Order: sequence, then C-alpha cells, then structure tokens
Amino acid sequence: MYFNLRYENEELVFINQTLLPFKEEYIHTDDYNRIAEAIERLEIRGAPAIGVAGAYALVLSQKKAIDPALFEKAYKRLAGARPTAVNLVWALNKIKDCFSISCTFAGLVDAAVALHRDDERRCELIGKYGCEIFVKKSRVITHCNTGRLATAGEGTAFNVIKQGYLNGQVEFVYADETRPLLQGSRLTAFELGKNNIPFSIISDGMSSHFMSKGLVDIAITGADRIAANGDSANKIGTFALAIACKYHNIPFYIAAPKSTIDSNIENGLGIPIEMRKGDEVLFANGTPVTLPEYTALSPSFDVTPAELIHGIITEDGIYSYPYNFREV
Ligand code: MRU
Repeated sequence: MYFNLRYENEELVFINQTLLPFKEEYIHTDDYNRIAEAIERLEIRGAPAIGVAGAYALVLSQKKAIDPALFEKAYKRLAGARPTAVNLVWALNKIKDCFSISCTFAGLVDAAVALHRDDERRCELIGKYGCEIFVKKSRVITHCNTGRLATAGEGTAFNVIKQGYLNGQVEFVYADETRPLLQGSRLTAFELGKNNIPFSIISDGMSSHFMSKGLVDIAITGADRIAANGDSANKIGTFALAIACKYHNIPFYIAAPKSTIDSNIENGLGIPIEMRKGDEVLFANGTPVTLPEYTALSPSFDVTPAELIHGIITEDGIYSYPYNFREV
C-alpha cells in the first residue's frame, strides 16, 4: 500500500504526487530546501500534509548542529512556500515553540513526530464523526484530494467517504477532476481505486448536471483555511460546487482538522489566496492545450461563504451554521 510521508533514518521520505497515478516514486531527503521545493511544486500537497512535512523540514535544518540563524532562515523559506493553507505556519510555529539553543535534534524530531501522530488522530476522529452526516446510502461528490495523500493520516473529507463506504453508508463517489492540476482525476481517483470504492471522474463543470438529475445526495470537501466566521478557502472550484449544492438543496460539508481554523481572521476576505503560474492552465500534464501566445490566470483557491456550508466536520465533532471559531 502507498504512503505519503514517513520519517526514517533521519530523512523525510515522501511520495512524489506530481507523478501519480502513473508512477509511485518515493523521494528520500534530509534537505529542508528540497522539501520547501517539493511543497511549492506540489510533490507534497494538501493542507495538513504540508504542515507535517514543513515541521520535519524545519527540524532537519538542525540535523548537523543546533543553529539559530539557520533555523530562522529555514523557517522563513518554508513559511513562504505556500500562503493559503494555515496548517503550514501552524506546524512550523509548533516546532518554533520547542526550539531553543539548549534543545537537541532528537527533541525536535520528537516534536515533529508528535505532530504527525496528532494529525493521524485528527483524521481518525473526523472519519468517525463524519459518518453522522449520512442519513441514507449516499452518492457523494467531492473536489480536489483530501485523502492519505493530503494529510499525515487517512484523510479528512476522504476519510469520511471511506469510513462511510466501509459502514455501507456511501454507495458511489463523483470525483471532480479539479482543474488545473487534476488532484481529483489523478489523486482522489488513485485513492478511491486503492480502497475499491466505486467512483467516476467528472469534469468540474458537470456537477450541476448530475445534481439536476437527482444523482447526488451530499457533497464533502476539505479546506485550507477556515476564518472565524466559517468562511472556508479550498481548492479553486469549491465555491462553484457549493453554489450548485445550494441551488439543488444538497447539503455541502467541509471536513478539516482544527489546525485549519485561523481564528485571527474574521472572515474570508482576510484569507490570502495563492496565485500560481498561468502555465498550469495553459498546459495539462506538460502538454499545451492552447496557443503559446495566450495568457491565463490561476488562483489556486477560492473562498466558500459560511452560509453555503451545512456543517464543518472536525476532530471534536460537527459544527453547524452560524459558525463562531473566534476562540478555538
Ligand atoms: O493545492 P493543493 O492540492 O495543496 O490543494 C489542496 C486542497 O485544496 C485540499 O482540499 C485541502 O488542502 C484539504 S486537504 C485535507
């Protein structure tokens, strides 16, 4: 079975997600800068996963010697790798809290491993509580990838789907392909396939069609940052999916660990949205889809307003609208 992140022999081992589903290749490194590059290139991706990988990377910067100047340099490099998912800075700050001139490399490793185990536990509880949303055997739609590949455990929204399937509460999954980088058709499909869960890939614009035919019962996605009022940033296209759900009276849920909540940000207007290179839209898996002289825009995330979110599934249970995450 595949894995996402592992700490072994004083190195981080991670699967290169840009090659999936065609090739399962694992990279071994103890270089924090290589891990920062992997986060930027989406070899490692998904909000909780980049948090845990970032934590290991920061710790690995101290492998040769405890060096406060290098620690600060590595912190800045990693924190700047991706701006939207708050889990990255959240996890880096947890390591920073443990750091002092008198700490040891082994002590820092223990702190990163504890974050890894903590994310596993959060995913497990999200999967457990999340099954309460299924009122009948359901056909579920999801967007982007929220499974083992996006976390350090078994996933958020994906783990709700997986546990629901194992309980007999989920019968079929529509996996949005998730343009431009195809986390749905490459990664969610890969994970659904590995778990023998029946599914079809649909392109992002097809969801309303299937909803209008009465073929979708419920939608669940993950999140990269949730503001205090519940406005939730997730992969571009999530907002459109939530609007389509509202129109068709289909409950739309977010599943995320509380490390994704940013109580310092009042609402979605304050969430930084990563702009990526237009080339990600102009090419599909390296092949141009249009003429080279054309330009494209590529915001990586959008913000779904809290009022469109039926419930937010966390490791502490399910919250309902209106949300108040000012003190989490
Ligand atoms: O750009 P990505 O692939 O890192 O975006 C990931 C998502 O939008 C996920 O839905 C989100 O991080 C939740 S992961 C459990």
